[in-house]
Amino acid sequence: MIMLNEQYQDLTPSYLFAEVARRAAAFAQAHPDQEIIKLSIGDVTRPLAPAVIAAMHKAVDEMGQAATFHGYGPEQGYDFLRQAIGRYYQSFGVELEDDEIFVSDGAKSDLANITDLFDRDNKVLIPDPVYPVYVDTNIMNGREIVYLEANEANGFLPAPPDFEADLIYLCSPNNPTGAVYNRDQLKAWVDYANRWGAVLLFDAAYESFITDPDLPRSIFEIPGAKTCAIEFCSLSKTAGFTGTRCGYTVVPQELVFDSMSLNHMWNRRQTTKFNGVPYVVQRAAEAVFTEEARAQIRASIAYYQENARVIAAGLDRLGIAYTGGVNSPYLWMRCPNGMGSWEFFDDLLQKAAVVGTPGEGFGSCGKGYFRLTAFGDHDKTVEAMERIQKAYG
Ligand code: MLT
Repeated sequence: MIMLNEQYQDLTPSYLFAEVARRAAAFAQAHPDQEIIKLSIGDVTRPLAPAVIAAMHKAVDEMGQAATFHGYGPEQGYDFLRQAIGRYYQSFGVELEDDEIFVSDGAKSDLANITDLFDRDNKVLIPDPVYPVYVDTNIMNGREIVYLEANEANGFLPAPPDFEADLIYLCSPNNPTGAVYNRDQLKAWVDYANRWGAVLLFDAAYESFITDPDLPRSIFEIPGAKTCAIEFCSLSKTAGFTGTRCGYTVVPQELVFDSMSLNHMWNRRQTTKFNGVPYVVQRAAEAVFTEEARAQIRASIAYYQENARVIAAGLDRLGIAYTGGVNSPYLWMRCPNGMGSWEFFDDLLQKAAVVGTPGEGFGSCGKGYFRLTAFGDHDKTVEAMERIQKAYG
C-alpha cells in the first residue's frame, strides 16, 4: 500500500493566510452589510507601473508574430533579465556573475524548493516569529528545527547562538516584525555561518522598503557572505508583481561544500523541476529596473510608506507598543488589553470589521502580537485606523 509523507501530520491544519482568509470570509457571509478592511496578507494594491505595462504589451505583441515568438525559455531566466538584476546589485556595490542569478516565479517557491539541496539531517535554525513557509517546508521534509527567540529585548533581531546549526533562515526587513538588521548584526551572522560551515538563507523580499542608506539591502553587502549565503528576492512587493509572479535567487559560485557546488546543484534542480518564468513576465520584470519604472515604483512605495505612517500614528494615539513601519511595510503590535493573537483577531473583526494577521500564526513568540500591513488602499487604511480608535480608544 502507498505510504504517505507522515510529516504533514505535524503541520498546523491550514496555512496561516488560508486560515485568516477563511475566518474573514465566514464573517463576510454572516455580515453582508459590513465592509471588511484587510490589513492582513501583504498583497499590494497599487497597479503595475506604466513603464512595466508598456514592456509587457510589447512582449505580448512579440508573442503573436512568428519572427519574435518565444517558446521554452532558459530555466534560469533570460540573459536580458539576469543582466538587469546584476546591474541593480551593482548600484549598491555588489558584483554578481549572471550565472549566479536565477529568475523564478517568486521568493516563496524558491525558499521552499531550496530545501531540495540539503540533507534531511541538517539542523535548521529559524527565528520565531517568522514567515511560516520556512517552518512548514522543513516540517514537510522532516528536519530538526531549533527556534531562536525574537523578542522586544533583542529588538526582534536575534543574534547568532552559541551552538552549531547548519541551515539558518534570516529575513530583513523582517516579515512579520518589520525589524531590520544593520551591517554589524549581519556580519555576526556571516561570521557565524563561515565558522560552522553553515548556509544562510537570506530573504530580502522587502529590501525596497529600506530608506535608511546605512542599512544593508542585500546579505552580499557584507564581506564573507558569498561563501555562506543564498539570497531570495521578489518583485512582488517591490513592483506590484504579487499576481504577475517574478522573483530571483542569488546562489554564489563560491558556495562549495565537500566539492559540491550549490550553484550547480540549484541549476540542476531548476532545469529538472522548473520550466522558467514566461517571456512576457520577464520582459515586464526587466522594465522594473529601468530609470523610468524605478521613479514610478518609488511613488508606489511612498504610498505604502504613508500608509505605514498612518497606522503608526493610530497606534501611537492608542498608546499601543509596536515595532516596524519604518524601512518596512509591516507593523508588529502588542494586542490591546492583554488579548491573545487569535482572540484579538476575532475581536477586531467583530468590533471594527478589520482583518489583520495574528502574531501566533508566525510562531509561539508571536503570541499576544498582531501584524498590520501597509499594502492597503490609503483611504481604507485611514478608515481602518479610525475604526480601531473607536473600538479600543
Ligand atoms: C505576507 O503577508 O506575509 C506575504 O504577503 C506572504 C507572501 O509573500 O507569501
